[in-house]
Amino acid sequence: MPQERRDDRLQVGASGARIEFTSEDTVVKSAANGVDRLIAQAMMMKAVGKVVFPEIIFIGPHYYEMERLIPLKWTRARVAGDIIYEMCAMLPLIWGPYQRVRFGDMITDAHREYMRPRWGPHYRRMENWLDGLLDEEVTKATRIHGDPTVENVMQRRIDQRIVFIDPIPANDYIPSLIAIDMGKMLQSIFGYERILRPDTPVLNPTDTMELAGNMTSIFMHGDKLVSWYFLCVHIARLIPYQPAERQHIFWDMLTHAIEVFKP
Ligand SMILES: Nc1ncnc2c1ncn2[C@@H]1O[C@H](COP(=O)(O)OP(=O)(O)OP(=O)(O)O)[C@@H](O)[C@H]1O
Ligand SMILES: [Mg+2]
Repeated sequence: MPQERRDDRLQVGASGARIEFTSEDTVVKSAANGVDRLIAQAMMMKAVGKVVFPEIIFIGPHYYEMERLIPLKWTRARVAGDIIYEMCAMLPLIWGPYQRVRFGDMITDAHREYMRPRWGPHYRRMENWLDGLLDEEVTKATRIHGDPTVENVMQRRIDQRIVFIDPIPANDYIPSLIAIDMGKMLQSIFGYERILRPDTPVLNPTDTMELAGNMTSIFMHGDKLVSWYFLCVHIARLIPYQPAERQHIFWDMLTHAIEVFKP
């Protein structure tokens, strides 16, 4: 198992997850807490398979070993928008068959309670928006990635193909809806990675809106409306994890997303 040490073979993620480069071809991901989640993640990646995820080599009691990947390479041919389209094309392989459901049946009190303190000054507006969506028909994925941002896309070393890492199983307050994944891609379109690393390629505002429209137009109308709401949920959930000096950037991003998307 990975030892407590700091060198370039060990990388510690935002949530305390650790990635250790164990050989030329492999890495081990482990976590001090949230072990159930880590193992659920490994099992899902193994079940869905190598077309969309790194190969899972071994699942242990509190770690798993997987194929070593390389960071996403930005080229002239592959600009920010292209990555989103590639991600859109890969997600249905994770989703599998889905069931049509009424959005209201998927929203629990736990979701409202969880979000309540996170909306800050937007609380009333967001509750109002949520209430207006409850009768929407949407498609429900039987399985979602949960966090398909550009940050969670890497490349295979052998053929440069892109794969997802770091899926998050749905829970009581985040329903297993396709719109959750679409909202996460919108979060990247809105510049999430750009805030973390200013050298990330970015879309200009016109392209951003066009892409957001195109991406969601291939899905049902209800999915589109609900994904806009979840874009705001995702941004609001990120705020408490940001360093104090960065929180205002995320509040501005949230206010902007509400202005653009709230009907
Ligand atoms: N298979 C891999 N090969 C090489 N590097 C990897 C691999 N998986 C993850 N990494 C590196 O580790 C970083 C963090 O990984 P990951 O996204 O799985 O965890 P996290 O975001 O820190 O944790 P979590 O989302 O579980 O809270 C990635 O951004 C990437 O740099
Ligand atoms: Mg991650």
